Amino acid sequence: MFDDKNFTKYLNRHEIDAAVQSLANRINADYEGKQVLLVAVLKGALIFVADLVRLLKVDNEIDFVRLSSYGKARTSSGTVTILKDIQMDIRGKDVLIVEEIIDSGRTLKFLYERLKAAGPNSLEIITLLDKSAKRVVEVPVKYVGKKIDDQFLIGYGLDLEEHCRNLPDIYYLKYPN
Ligand code: IMP
Ligand code: MG
Repeated sequence: MFDDKNFTKYLNRHEIDAAVQSLANRINADYEGKQVLLVAVLKGALIFVADLVRLLKVDNEIDFVRLSSYGKARTSSGTVTILKDIQMDIRGKDVLIVEEIIDSGRTLKFLYERLKAAGPNSLEIITLLDKSAKRVVEVPVKYVGKKIDDQFLIGYGLDLEEHCRNLPDIYYLKYPN
């Protein structure tokens, strides 16, 4: 599945670490004295949230949601369904949605609206990577680790048809088809 002739390194683990650390610094400053509830979007955000949470100095809780959007394997369609909902009551809480990458924004838009309706005290979005040129719907993303070009990426939680999430570095596909 992973053939490094077809993949080129895009971000090495040191660059990823630096981006995660600078995001953690901002969260630590912005949520000082508060408690933050991280809602990580499975499966892609699992590596990012694990690294991020270990750099947080603010009190925190973690919950997970798993969403699925139907359509082509490498891009999301407009239809989003919930495969696993959050378990915590977010009413009155300071909630931070944790994503590893935002493409069209459709997945996040759906989740953002849904969580907003549950009455959190605040609701923000953090993403490690942002393909902002691909945005189809507006989503209020407050924390962005790195803006990236429109490329299909794998590694550090990002999958190629469910494989390669474990790669410590991030690669891009040379010959997408
Ligand atoms: P969106 O709804 O179009 O913003 O799609 C977001 C989701 O698509 C992300 O959470 C990822 O799971 C997946 N995705 C988007 N771009 C990539 C990529 O380059 N590699 C792997 N998965 C991606
Ligand atoms: Mg994701």
